[in-house]
Amino acid sequence: MVKITNNIKYIGVDDKDIDLFEGQYEVPNGISYNSYIILDEKIAIMDTVDMRRSEEWLSNLQRELNGRKPDYLVISHLEPDHGGTIGKLLQAYPDITLVGNAKTFSMLPNFFDVEGQEKLEAAEAGTLSLGEHTLQFFMAPMVHWPEVMVTYEQKEKVLFSADGFGKFGALDTEEEWTCEARRYYFNIVGKYGAPVQALLKKAAALDIAVICPLHGPILKENLGFYIDKYNTWSSYQPEDKGVFIAYASIHGNTAGAAHFLQEQLLQLGEEKVAITDLARDDMAEAVEDAFRYDRIVLAASSYDAGLFPPMEDFLLHLKAKMYQKRTVALVENGSWAPSAAKKMREYLESMKEITVLEPVVTIRSTVKKETKEQLQALAETIRQA
Ligand code: FEO
Repeated sequence: MVKITNNIKYIGVDDKDIDLFEGQYEVPNGISYNSYIILDEKIAIMDTVDMRRSEEWLSNLQRELNGRKPDYLVISHLEPDHGGTIGKLLQAYPDITLVGNAKTFSMLPNFFDVEGQEKLEAAEAGTLSLGEHTLQFFMAPMVHWPEVMVTYEQKEKVLFSADGFGKFGALDTEEEWTCEARRYYFNIVGKYGAPVQALLKKAAALDIAVICPLHGPILKENLGFYIDKYNTWSSYQPEDKGVFIAYASIHGNTAGAAHFLQEQLLQLGEEKVAITDLARDDMAEAVEDAFRYDRIVLAASSYDAGLFPPMEDFLLHLKAKMYQKRTVALVENGSWAPSAAKKMREYLESMKEITVLEPVVTIRSTVKKETKEQLQALAETIRQA
């Protein structure tokens, strides 16, 4: 069992048989829906869990309650992976007081009938005493949804950070934090860099010993490392020097060109050159890698006088996540009227602070000697960028 402090207990659950988290993300190691209980004169529950694991969660809750009744449910975030079991909790403990903000209470009836339920509206920096423990609330709108708030427990210096600092992967998964936390961040919270920056400023004023997110491990040591990562990610700065090649190839020729370019870059001394087949590999990981590195190559076939759909899908994802501040090289393929580069350029022009390297390499169907020479020249240009 996960221990936080003597009076703050983990009552969350792992979900290892979900096929797609939030209807689209592959989670090979599952996901955890974290939830906590603070035991004092008054008892506060910090969020519920997804309905998929409601029975297991209620059993964890009852174990820690040990016959007592909870006084408060603090609702950090209403999304169903956290708020899904509120209805069942109210059936079991109808006298509980719901703690949320004005936005929480305006959205709550979309999910549950809470008419007549006791409610306590939290204000920015407002407090709630449980006895020895005091909860302090800070609004974090759009650190995924508009009603999100985080809670700081003053006595034990614990920050309940909602989706912030979350990670894919069940809690019993042995894996380093950064990779799956980065994939989680850019795909789920990536659009909201400015609200995350605002939350980091509030957090900087607090003395934090433990971060309890709603997904993934409880963070107790080296907190500066995680906060630094969030600062880099939310300011849209590249995290690592490197090149990410994303290709969408119909018959394999564009794929061949992408791999040839990767070899050239490695031969020129580029240390990290990641590559992805957009038609086959995980889109969420491609989005993650696009944000991770400082330079990206988009290589795509032309299609129906436009762009091969896997590349178009990728660019739509990047645009939705506010992709910006990167250097981009373009490779297109077209047998009679190449159109991919024009379309890719249109997407890039709708993003902020994107530098497109010239010239674009145009492949005419197959990679020939002159195509290789152009790709070698492009590799030099990317290296110097
Ligand atoms: Fe983990 Fe935005 O829900």
